[in-house]
Amino acid sequence: MKEERANFGSKIGMILATAGSAVGLGNIWRFPYMAGEHGGAAFILVYAACIALLGIPCMVAEFVVGRHGAANASRAYARIGGHKAWKAVGVMGVVTGFAIISYYTVVSGWCLQYVWAAAAGQLEGSPEAISAYFESFSKDPVRPAMWAVAFMLGTHFVIIHGVRGGIERASKLMMPALFALLLVVVAAACTLPGAGKGVEFLLKPDFSKIDGSVLLGALGQAFYSLSIGMGCICTYASYYSRQTDLVRSAVQISFLDTLVAILAGLVIFPAAFSVGISPDSGPSLTFITLPNVFQQAFSGSPAVWLIASVSFYVLLSLAAFTSLISLHEVCTAFISEELHMSRRKGAAVVTAAGCLLGVLCALSVAEPEWVAVAGMPLFDFFDFTTGQILLPLGGLLTCIVVGWWAPKAVVRDQFTNWGTVNRALYRSWIFLVGVVCPVLISAIFVNQLFMS
Ligand code: TRP
Repeated sequence: MKEERANFGSKIGMILATAGSAVGLGNIWRFPYMAGEHGGAAFILVYAACIALLGIPCMVAEFVVGRHGAANASRAYARIGGHKAWKAVGVMGVVTGFAIISYYTVVSGWCLQYVWAAAAGQLEGSPEAISAYFESFSKDPVRPAMWAVAFMLGTHFVIIHGVRGGIERASKLMMPALFALLLVVVAAACTLPGAGKGVEFLLKPDFSKIDGSVLLGALGQAFYSLSIGMGCICTYASYYSRQTDLVRSAVQISFLDTLVAILAGLVIFPAAFSVGISPDSGPSLTFITLPNVFQQAFSGSPAVWLIASVSFYVLLSLAAFTSLISLHEVCTAFISEELHMSRRKGAAVVTAAGCLLGVLCALSVAEPEWVAVAGMPLFDFFDFTTGQILLPLGGLLTCIVVGWWAPKAVVRDQFTNWGTVNRALYRSWIFLVGVVCPVLISAIFVNQLFMS
């Protein structure tokens, strides 16, 4: 008996769910510090080029695998590759998913803690005090682990309600809320005195800043931000309908994703320049620099300060939540379909494993000696192996299977919706996916592994 496969109920639901996966900590936490470290506008231009030339074609390639496969990532790769060996790409994606989940829940948990801290007025005092707050909180052995588990349980709740009733519904509620909050914070930040310098930093490129590290940073960021390389986009596409225009959807989703990243920059840079703090402090930008910036920037009006900072951390938590849902779904779909379990049971296995790994990651930051692999705290180990090795490898293998291995007719039918749309784009796309992407991805891969 062929069971009916779940699918998204509406076009807008499908776009918001996939954009929900893409828009996450990568946009609001990682993008601003990457741009800040790499010269602002110059980085953004290169980033936009990476999204257009590599990100969108690779996203379409994952869509093709997923919609053709109509199954979890591992089965979908085996189906399009026509050989069981391709299952390995999907399995690798699931392993990557678990590894990302484990540190993603920890950072998501920090965001929740900061919502609470911002609301309770704890994010104030001297710059040293704020930095000490973050240090003592993230190194606490109990609270970050509890927040991580809470986040995981929230995700579990959405996942067990299924694709339409859970993922799609949650995205339709949370994504508009996220955009609304973002506009509130952008308005607050851009009306600060002296904010113009920050806007300029973001929009006026200094081309002398573009070098190899900017290129590589931008490419890695584009893949991470679009959720490419681990079967995430592929799993969501397995719930798409035959009418979905894959190219148009990829363009819309990438547009939303980039818009959120730039708007996040329009919060952080104007505020930072307004108080004269340089925005290149790296990963601590959101958790240490920003509370300082908000405090100084809005010192004249405590109400605006409260609204802006609480909204910002709620926004960050929402973005993290919809991305975590997508990571969970990749693993749940795999476990329930491959091990023949109900969706509920599969989800429970993923949640249990995710909680355990999340707690270990949280502890690894608190006590790096306890939970370390290869001389790194587990948190850093997972961050490094997924971002620098597993995701580029997954992206590369996807390009190879779609660009070279899969039957051309199958790929073309998926790309053109059986000959009805985008026919003129097919050849250029196949060239990008089959040649340009693999060459560039291999270049970053080799460079990141051996040169740095
Ligand atoms: N794209 C998300 C972000 O920007 C993170 C994410 C979710 C992800 N699913 C993924 C990254 C799959 C890589 C692969 O935060």
